[in-house]
Amino acid sequence: MKIESLIVQGIPAKNNENGAIVPPIYLASTYVQPSIEEHQTYAYGRGGNPTRNALEELISKIEGVDYGFAFASGMAATTTAFNLFKSGDKILVNSNVYGGTYRYLDTVFQQQELSYELVDDFNLLSEEDIDTTVKALFIETPSNPLLQVTDIQRLAAIAHQKGILIIVDNTFATPYLQKPFELGADIVLYSATKYLSGHADVIAGLLTVADSGLAARIKHLQNTLGNILSPFDSYSLIRGIKTLSVRMDRQEANTVKILAFLKEHEAIARLNYPGSASPEEAAIQKKKHVETVRSFQLN
Ligand SMILES: Cc1ncc(COP(=O)(O)O)c(C=O)c1O
Repeated sequence: MKIESLIVQGIPAKNNENGAIVPPIYLASTYVQPSIEEHQTYAYGRGGNPTRNALEELISKIEGVDYGFAFASGMAATTTAFNLFKSGDKILVNSNVYGGTYRYLDTVFQQQELSYELVDDFNLLSEEDIDTTVKALFIETPSNPLLQVTDIQRLAAIAHQKGILIIVDNTFATPYLQKPFELGADIVLYSATKYLSGHADVIAGLLTVADSGLAARIKHLQNTLGNILSPFDSYSLIRGIKTLSVRMDRQEANTVKILAFLKEHEAIARLNYPGSASPEEAAIQKKKHVETVRSFQLN
């Protein structure tokens, strides 16, 4: 199935005795168990909810991996990923990262005995820049707000050589335009509040992973921190995602026209558009589009 078809069709509802064509909104907080010894899939809504799980399965399928998790905001997804690390660990982060992520690094990291280093241009990072305390590279690409792009594939090769994780905030490109797992990412996160939702009526975050060990740790954190997405917002996000590919195509087409206009405008000194800064950046951007997205097929 092509990614466009999966996006619009979504995931069929489970245990669907009425044949609903979309997953219903399950508001129940608590579920009856067959007996004191036997437990069924759902017990308590923080641990699992059928509507949220439908969204989680959808994003994992779109991403092409086995595990997805939905959170109450993009920041909840980001901070859950940071909770994977322990005292003494250091994370390298692109300096032009979203302000809310920077606020967490600046004000909360120290209390958790974690440290970070801001990297001006991840594309210039080499193995020698990664000391033994560094446990992950956190890359927001394209970055917010300057839309700088980072070569995930090159950094993933370096990170894996060093045995550290590569976390990609793929909020701005979305899984429609960029497939970080195919480029070597270990964790991909989203502020689904933006393009994935698409209608400015949901605050939500998503984490996706391919590795079952990492997935188990994230599931534990999601249940323990309790920063879950509500059933209604899960439903709204499933609905918003249905139009992702058509919205992104139209937005790109419109933006290319605006870009052409602004390029010729005498009042414009510099344009921030992914791939427009230099031939090198254009090559990175092209790689994301051509090699990954456009040829991407789901079984
Ligand atoms: C790139 C990026 N990551 C994360 C976030 C945080 O997401 P949320 O606002 O859904 O908490 C934002 C929000 O603007 C963002 O732009």
